[in-house]
Amino acid sequence: MRTRVIDHPLVAHKLTLLRERSTPSPVFRQLVDELVTLLAYEATRDVAVRDVAIDTPVASATGVKLATPRPIVVPILRAGLGMLEGMVKLLPTAEVGFLGMKRDEETLEAVTYANRLPDDLSGRQCYILDPMLATGHTLIDSINYLLERGARDVTCVCLLAAPEGLANVTEAVGGRAEVTIVVAAIDERLNDRGYIVPGLGDAGDRLYGVVD
Ligand code: URA
Repeated sequence: MRTRVIDHPLVAHKLTLLRERSTPSPVFRQLVDELVTLLAYEATRDVAVRDVAIDTPVASATGVKLATPRPIVVPILRAGLGMLEGMVKLLPTAEVGFLGMKRDEETLEAVTYANRLPDDLSGRQCYILDPMLATGHTLIDSINYLLERGARDVTCVCLLAAPEGLANVTEAVGGRAEVTIVVAAIDERLNDRGYIVPGLGDAGDRLYGVVD
């Protein structure tokens, strides 16, 4: 598994604003959108393209277009939904699948409550969107879900990761597939409630408000 931390002043600037507890939801949503577009630029560095012949106003030339089968973007509900627009802005032809996962606040394990994905993902490049890689349980379950359907090339776009979660995902994935984590920053640690420290709080609540 590869981990790529995107070291860029604009990424760091937007992340700092996201971390601020006083940043209101509408601004938080806008910043997530902008930050994901910056991360998407790096996350799609190896997206498959094919050569095409074109005519410019001046001459014939060879360019590239996104290849088929189309990549698939999978936001993990609910917080991953806040990352979708920022991603598909750069990949407008991508298909979008959904995985609904929530964590059991006592065991910190991930529970799947919804899925809308093609049964066969062989040959597809998959992009999972999940803002907070905390314990890694949600991401491990999501990656396994895609690998069970034949995916072999999975890129996870996250805003923040904890070292413990990264270690768990690395161990769980092993050498089974080409998995890359693209993240804006790796924070210090998890606290005893499984939150990333210093983190930005509960990403879903900050995007969409608290739902009991
Ligand atoms: N999920 C969040 O939204 N925030 C954390 O810090 C950890 C998990």
